[in-house]
Amino acid sequence: MKVAVLGAAGGIGQALSLLLKTQLPAGSELSLYDVAPVVPGVAVDLSHIPTDVKVTGFGKDDLASALVGSDIVLIPAGVPRKPGMDRSDLFNMNAGIVKNLVQGVADNCPDACVGIITNPVNTTVPIAAEVLKQNGCYDKRKLFGVTTLDVIRSEAFVAELRGLNPANVTVPVIGGHSGTTILPLLSQVEGVEFTEQEINDLTHRIQNAGTEVVEAKAGGGSATLSMGQAAARFCLSLVKGLQGQETVECTYVEGPGDHATFFAQPVRLGKNGVEEVLPYGELSAFEKQCMDEMLDGLKSDIQKGIDFV
Ligand SMILES: NC(=O)c1ccc[n+]([C@@H]2O[C@H](COP(=O)([O-])OP(=O)(O)OC[C@H]3O[C@@H](n4cnc5c(N)ncnc54)[C@H](O)[C@@H]3O)[C@@H](O)[C@H]2O)c1
Repeated sequence: MKVAVLGAAGGIGQALSLLLKTQLPAGSELSLYDVAPVVPGVAVDLSHIPTDVKVTGFGKDDLASALVGSDIVLIPAGVPRKPGMDRSDLFNMNAGIVKNLVQGVADNCPDACVGIITNPVNTTVPIAAEVLKQNGCYDKRKLFGVTTLDVIRSEAFVAELRGLNPANVTVPVIGGHSGTTILPLLSQVEGVEFTEQEINDLTHRIQNAGTEVVEAKAGGGSATLSMGQAAARFCLSLVKGLQGQETVECTYVEGPGDHATFFAQPVRLGKNGVEEVLPYGELSAFEKQCMDEMLDGLKSDIQKGIDFV
């Protein structure tokens, strides 16, 4: 497997690259690209860790070399939030970055699976889809918005509230990746019952967990370490799938369009990327109401990305 990380010198990029250096299957290649001049140093630093994963760093003029032959491209390049911003405030800065990097994917590794981390994910994924369509290489089975952070936060918060081992907690999270479009299905957590108040509070906390980090970092950025872990989990599941061992993850993909063109829900990952978009089961009355209230916002986030390209 060759995995390229675009934006590899950033907070997420470095944490993610470290986890991939230590956890990708033996014989893999890790290709690190960033416009920041430190990126070759990040690659040298990681290359001193004794695992059978070859790491190479590429500077700003070497996007093509970074991408050629990649099976998976992960994109955390861009600007993170500061206190007082929501994810849509990042659109002006990040939309063009994603558009250019995905053009690089179309030019150099058009068959790769692409995981978009750069916010606003609700909009940057449709941007990526439009760029790939313009280049005649869009395959909806291979484009993902990485929403795994919402899943791992939900697992952590539920486990904390009930004193459980987080490794045994599974929480599907559907919808999108910002504010009320993040919909954790707490009614489906096995073996755990919540009061109405707990459901309200937990849902609100999961939807605003990114802001919890942004405020705690007080101007120093947004979630990077937990996001590195989330993206590594997603990437390693995708690697397993591509190598023939199917896995299931919630991710923001173009699905059957029951609610919106792009929607996060559980998908079965296999040799071709998304093998099947899975049903997410019965929603509680509270979850149905949350879904009704957020769909217009999600659809307009998607349209904004299409219009941009
Ligand atoms: N999907 C999620 O759940 C999630 C969670 C947290 C943060 N994010 C988003 O991830 C992005 C990155 O966050 P971060 O904290 O790592 O930011 P950061 O500022 O620490 O790192 C971003 C990196 O991107 C690089 N970069 C900028 N333009 C580039 C380009 N054109 N090509 C290559 N590299 C480029 C920068 O040099 C920098 O190294 C932000 O948009 C943030 O909002 C997403």
